[in-house]
Amino acid sequence: MQRISAATFQNLAEKGGGTVDLLERLCVPVPALVIGELLGVPADRYRELRDAAAAMVTFDASSKESAVRLADAVEWTAGTFTSVVRTKRDEPADDLISGWVRARDDADLLSEDELISLAFLMMLAGLENAVHLCGNIFASLLGSDDPLAVWSARRAETMEAANPLPFAIRRFAVADLTIGDRLIPEGDTVLLSLFGADSDPARGGRASLMFGRGPHYCLGAQVSDMIVDAVVPELFVRYPQVRPSVPESELEYRASWRSHGLVALPVRLTV
Ligand code: HEM
Repeated sequence: MQRISAATFQNLAEKGGGTVDLLERLCVPVPALVIGELLGVPADRYRELRDAAAAMVTFDASSKESAVRLADAVEWTAGTFTSVVRTKRDEPADDLISGWVRARDDADLLSEDELISLAFLMMLAGLENAVHLCGNIFASLLGSDDPLAVWSARRAETMEAANPLPFAIRRFAVADLTIGDRLIPEGDTVLLSLFGADSDPARGGRASLMFGRGPHYCLGAQVSDMIVDAVVPELFVRYPQVRPSVPESELEYRASWRSHGLVALPVRLTV
């Protein structure tokens, strides 16, 4: 995490002062390289992986063009992971996909399809959320006079307010159930609103559901913490004079109900 973050900051420094898009230059490469390395995907694929993940979460069912983009992204991602799995079978390495290949081939713990979908889910869940969590945190801190002090004093609240994931993964009712006065018939798809749950006035002292809860609690919650800690304070230490190029109210968010994330985050690194 430290190595990848330092290399990314080094690239940013080579750009010099002036205005940069912090999302593209910092919030994308760090998580993409971290998750790529964890999985064992070559670093030169990360940009394509990122574009594929973005096409999936911004899919708009009313647009034909978006449907074509989604189909291409899904095909490309499945093809990429199929070929990565083939490579790891021939040349295992110290990464997650090699471990899953062993679990499949040596112990038959999962099917070939499950192996590909696991890699697919890990990439999508990890990349999109970590990129936009960092972006949203920066968007909220950049307007402040002393972002580092705010971050140190209010890390947990700032993280929670920057949550990029409005809804949990889909659930399906396995039997009729009633919640409040609504009947949810067996077989219906259920979307659980994490934003709704966390902003519920009746929440009381309940912990945030930002990373879910129970058996499906986010597998990457600790990775996310580490990414955020390797990136957020470091920016303000390296660039104490960093300022947003546009006011927070004018920042543009992507049109997506699946992910609350910025289109871009223009900043001036130095005065
Ligand atoms: C950075 C912000 C992140 C947020 C806000 C987040 C949030 C969540 C939430 C709410 C769930 C539970 C979904 C549910 O119960 O329906 C979840 C599951 C999951 N997350 Fe994350 N996540 C983040 C980052 C990551 C990262 C970095 C990875 C991988 C490296 C990851 C991998 C996963 C996986 C594989 C699951 C599915 C677990 C299961 O179904 O058993 N997430 N995440």
